[in-house]
Amino acid sequence: MADQAERLRALVQGQRDVAPIKRQGNSRIIVVASGKGGVGKTNLVVNLAITMGQLGHKTLILDADLGMANVDILLDLKPVFTLVDVMNGKKELRDIILQGPYNLEVLPGGSCIPEIINMDNQQREQLISRLSYLEEETDVLFVDCSAGLSRNVLNFIATADDLVLVTTPEPTAITDVYSVIKLVDKYGMHSSVGLIVNMVSGPKEGEMIYHRIAKVCHNFLSLELTYLGSVDFDQHVQKAVVSCSPYVLQFPRSRAAQATQQIARHLLGIDKAPLPQKKEKRFLKRLFQRWLGETAEQ
Ligand SMILES: Nc1ncnc2c1ncn2[C@@H]1O[C@H](COP(=O)(O)OP(=O)(O)OP(=O)(O)O)[C@@H](O)[C@H]1O
Ligand SMILES: [Mg+2]
Repeated sequence: MADQAERLRALVQGQRDVAPIKRQGNSRIIVVASGKGGVGKTNLVVNLAITMGQLGHKTLILDADLGMANVDILLDLKPVFTLVDVMNGKKELRDIILQGPYNLEVLPGGSCIPEIINMDNQQREQLISRLSYLEEETDVLFVDCSAGLSRNVLNFIATADDLVLVTTPEPTAITDVYSVIKLVDKYGMHSSVGLIVNMVSGPKEGEMIYHRIAKVCHNFLSLELTYLGSVDFDQHVQKAVVSCSPYVLQFPRSRAAQATQQIARHLLGIDKAPLPQKKEKRFLKRLFQRWLGETAEQ
């Protein structure tokens, strides 16, 4: 029913090319993180998720940047309620999920850390079981993390099926992303990690940076770095941000949009082999157990 409503809305909005929605029956969680801040994670998450929606996948974004949530801003959505209201028992999960274009759903985290700390075990278990049901409803869950390696981010990384790291050509961004890779390798969280190089002058620069980091990984770590692609520095991204409209929708022919579409296809295993996945069952339950349980201990 919700799918039907979404398709009607898409038609009304002129989105006639929307692919038929069919659950793929193979949910996965893609965590997007970086070392340095401001490298373009949120923009990539939003635009990758919309592209996957256009390809017929049921996609949900968990806005896990609890301090400065801005997935909703890029989509011009206005969250009235967040997870905090679900925790307080004021709202049901369904009431707080925002509907974006192409079946995209957004789960606003809100600044819920103080509430999580104050929950007792029963409340926490209740919340986890409420959140876990999303697993049955979602093909791809993107987690948009805050920059760096807080305990929260590490929990998300540890539970991901796919970890995607974002860097820019800036030396500090490269150094910081390598620090994340080193830690992921040290704790054996993933044997394969995807890399996107954003804001490049052209594809060659992206490839060069990937090869540089991959060589160091090869020499010193056991983890394999998979290149997912690069996105050019493109003013269309900034224009789209200003008008709160994702660039894949507002400027679908821009270089940034086309590169993002290619990366989405790669992640889905269309044209290219997908990332080798660390696939375990009931990932969402594990994710939220880790997240909420660990945060409560802080
Ligand atoms: N390919 C691009 N070309 C030009 N500008 C870009 C590109 N990608 C992102 N930007 C710009 O970079 C800024 C930061 O982007 P974004 O908020 O997505 O980064 P972030 O990694 O999520 O940041 P944070 O670490 O603070 O969460 C935005 O203003 C956006 O317009
Ligand atoms: Mg962000």
